[in-house]
Amino acid sequence: MPRRKIPKTPPPPIPEFVAQLTVRAETPADSAWIDGLHRQSFGPGRFARTAFRVRERVDPDPKLSFLALFEGHRVASVKMTPIAVGGAPGYLLGPLMTDPAHRSKGAGRHLVQKAIAAAKAAKAEFVLLVGDEPYYGALGFKQVPPGDIVFPGPVDPARILVHAEPDAIGRIKGMVGPRR
Ligand SMILES: CC(C)(COP(=O)(O)OP(=O)(O)OC[C@H]1O[C@@H](n2cnc3c(N)ncnc32)[C@H](O)[C@@H]1OP(=O)(O)O)[C@@H](O)C(=O)NCCC(=O)NCCS
Repeated sequence: MPRRKIPKTPPPPIPEFVAQLTVRAETPADSAWIDGLHRQSFGPGRFARTAFRVRERVDPDPKLSFLALFEGHRVASVKMTPIAVGGAPGYLLGPLMTDPAHRSKGAGRHLVQKAIAAAKAAKAEFVLLVGDEPYYGALGFKQVPPGDIVFPGPVDPARILVHAEPDAIGRIKGMVGPRR
């Protein structure tokens, strides 16, 4: 019988909260809850954000935009918008938001991982976002080489992060726009 390789370090335990989450695709009935959390999370400046401008031109895909529920109540949301950069198909992730009452329990990370897996299954070449490297870096996102990816508005280059195969980073270049 072939010997099974025993990993040196055991995988981290799944927090109980995450194990009890149900994740499903967003539906129109979720809009009011999501809009309320968006207002609460980002305030009056939310519509001026450059990532929001991209989502104004292209609708998020509800099949890849997920809701996390705990004991039947909505606790977190992530949206995914189909985009292209230099002809490569990908998704723009965001906004990612967790109800303040349920933050720091793993729901955000869980939804990001679900969104990445769904993008991969949909044959996307990358998942792009504008966000904090200390948070998303732990989930496999890397900073985009400065100037490679251009948004239709001002963005701090240090916050442009991408999740893709290592050889794709540096190859995906151009303006963020809708898919043809
Ligand atoms: C960012 C956000 C989605 C995280 O959701 P969450 O469900 O609390 O995330 P997780 O439980 O997976 O991770 C929480 C951990 O990330 C850390 N974290 C949260 N936001 C962070 C940030 N911007 N930078 C670095 N670390 C961050 C928390 O301190 C926490 O650390 P801990 O585990 O040591 O306590 C949530 O804080 C939120 O809704 N914020 C307002 C909206 C926002 O800024 N969204 C992100 C930009 S699109």
